[in-house]
Amino acid sequence: MSKEIEDPRVHNDSRNEPFSSVLDKHVSRRGIMQGGLGLAALSVFGGFGLGGLSGLASADSGAAKSPLSLAFESLRGSRTDAVVVPEGYTAQVLIPWGTPLNAQAPAWRDDLAITPAVQANSVGMHHDGMHAFALDEASASRDFLLALNNEYIDQKALWAPQGGPTNAEEGQRPADEVRTEINAHGITIVRVRKGSDGRWQHVADDAYNRRFTSATPMRLAGPVAGSAYVRTRYSPEGSHTRGTNNNCANGYTPWGTYLTCEENWPEVFVNHGERTRDDARLGLPTERGRYGWETAAGDASERADEFARFDVTPRGDAPTDDYRNETRTFGYIVEIDPYDGSAQAVKRTALGRFRHEGCWPGKLVEGQPVVFYSGHDSRNEYIYKFVSDAVWDPADANRVGADYDRLAIGAKYMDQGTLYVARFDADGSGEWLALTPDAETADGERLDAALGLERGDLAGVIVHTCDAADLLGATPMDRPEWGTVDPATGEVYMTLTNNSKRSAEDTAATFTNDGSAIDGPGVGYATAPTNAPNPRADNQAGQVIRWRDTGASAFEWEIFVFGAAADDADNLSGLTEANQFASPDGLWFDERGDGQGILWIQTDNGYEGVSEHTNDQLLAVVPASVSRKPGGAAVIGAADQAQLKRFAVGPNDCEVTGIFATPDRTALFINIQHPGNWPSGDDATAATSGTVRPRASTVVIQKADGGQVGV
Ligand code: FEO
Ligand code: CA
Ligand code: CA
Ligand code: CA
Repeated sequence: MSKEIEDPRVHNDSRNEPFSSVLDKHVSRRGIMQGGLGLAALSVFGGFGLGGLSGLASADSGAAKSPLSLAFESLRGSRTDAVVVPEGYTAQVLIPWGTPLNAQAPAWRDDLAITPAVQANSVGMHHDGMHAFALDEASASRDFLLALNNEYIDQKALWAPQGGPTNAEEGQRPADEVRTEINAHGITIVRVRKGSDGRWQHVADDAYNRRFTSATPMRLAGPVAGSAYVRTRYSPEGSHTRGTNNNCANGYTPWGTYLTCEENWPEVFVNHGERTRDDARLGLPTERGRYGWETAAGDASERADEFARFDVTPRGDAPTDDYRNETRTFGYIVEIDPYDGSAQAVKRTALGRFRHEGCWPGKLVEGQPVVFYSGHDSRNEYIYKFVSDAVWDPADANRVGADYDRLAIGAKYMDQGTLYVARFDADGSGEWLALTPDAETADGERLDAALGLERGDLAGVIVHTCDAADLLGATPMDRPEWGTVDPATGEVYMTLTNNSKRSAEDTAATFTNDGSAIDGPGVGYATAPTNAPNPRADNQAGQVIRWRDTGASAFEWEIFVFGAAADDADNLSGLTEANQFASPDGLWFDERGDGQGILWIQTDNGYEGVSEHTNDQLLAVVPASVSRKPGGAAVIGAADQAQLKRFAVGPNDCEVTGIFATPDRTALFINIQHPGNWPSGDDATAATSGTVRPRASTVVIQKADGGQVGV
């Protein structure tokens, strides 16, 4: 997500007790559990992020190995219209925006006029989170389905041939422009394949190729489905909705489905009347939606309220007469079966309603619940986890093929369970607070009563997830972005990208969104005071936090690394010119066996201290090669600089996001989102000469000698 669509306002005006800035009180604990945990518990293929370890040198379970070593030199910073990779590597552009998925879309050309039909049959815009789904084990590293989020749009590039969008800021948008923009959002499923020459290409017209857009019918499941909160004119029984919006990071399930996560969706709606409590908390616009899609309502060609639904102002007598509840069908984790072209996407409401960045499964243990971690990407918002009621049955892993109902397995693990929110304590411990109707708030009330809900109203708690988390005393964080789980240890890493609304005051400072003071106990804030996991005021460079659950509702945490410019006064991880970075965003723990792996860190930076040296980048570190520091210091410190290396740099104006590698680890896939003047061809490293119509793209990084990436 670029600053273009990021919502800089703070919507959390809760009165949570703050934790003072006591990083130095953060006690030292025993070292992390490392290695030795059986990989047999992991799935074998399908969800690449969970396994696919065949072919890796560490597949045997022999003696402990020396730590992995990153066999490339840290790159210098770069500010060009090209991708930069280490010597000995290639980088190929794959499936840029507008690549035809079938014969109904024309081949790309720079002056191609995009219509609703062209866009519905082509790769969407602004690639973000993605995941690979194998078709069979033998070919998993050279032929698979790529599921890809198309987070938002660049109207200038989309409408370049006609000189820009019509009435972008005010006035009525033309119906077909709105339909095209709606179709540029969502998810792309596309089959990709490696040729005998080592080059990758998409399989045009493959039967698996598919698009989900901001208009595709979807099913609601879990506690909110069928409740009065989601009854609309489109779905009077509250069972369905249309579209998924602003899908940022992603996730996947152990049974072989894709999870796509609704992040900055509130901005495509508008409410000209009085917003509901939850819509105000989530920052729904009151003047005009981000792209003014609602202004096409009433066009003679409008079908089934396709535009009217973006204006949620109550107009009828009852909720089923209008779209006042439309926004309550958004803000969820959405499950997609990439293998079944006829399966509807399902919104899994049990995992909470907020601006979801992504969703990551925890370590799988037979007979234990399945856990998913997620974060709310806004300033001073929270980190969550969902714990299933059903316990894990390894027979549910990797149900690839036509014989399985993967979404039924999804219902088993994702529709009943408990949602928790995290409180990080200053001593390095933490507690998961259950968001159940009978939970006790920080003020000793029942949660349902404190929210003004009927007793036992779980759907209401979920619709008001953010308010519920406020009331329980969750810790406001510096914009949680991606997470990733070390599948051997179960340790979770999460990026906290930056926070311009973090103040230095170590006090119960009292501010509301409009700057007025709040009296009484607790605190409400437009700026949250610094606290142990978020210790820097006006945090422009961000940090990566790490935790591990130590009981049903307890965890331990530490900061893994702080972003900074090398010459910053608060360069708390001692970064140098060779690895300075800011605003960590994408994250992936790349398991390489024996409990070892590479943590890949991607950036989405707007901090000048770093951007004057380099464009956004991809860094790598082997966590097993750095150890915890005493006294609560970050895991990566001045002595560890050789371990954190810059592996790739993106072209001007882009962010680097979305990441996985093939099971054999010979091809690393990343996404380049919102480049300014790139790509200029198939070679991602070719610098653009002149001007091109920019296209977000996937980039495949491989070693010229065919070896494993990174080592
Ligand atoms: Fe879409 Fe949180 O970045
Ligand atoms: Ca993004
Ligand atoms: Ca970001
Ligand atoms: Ca992001």
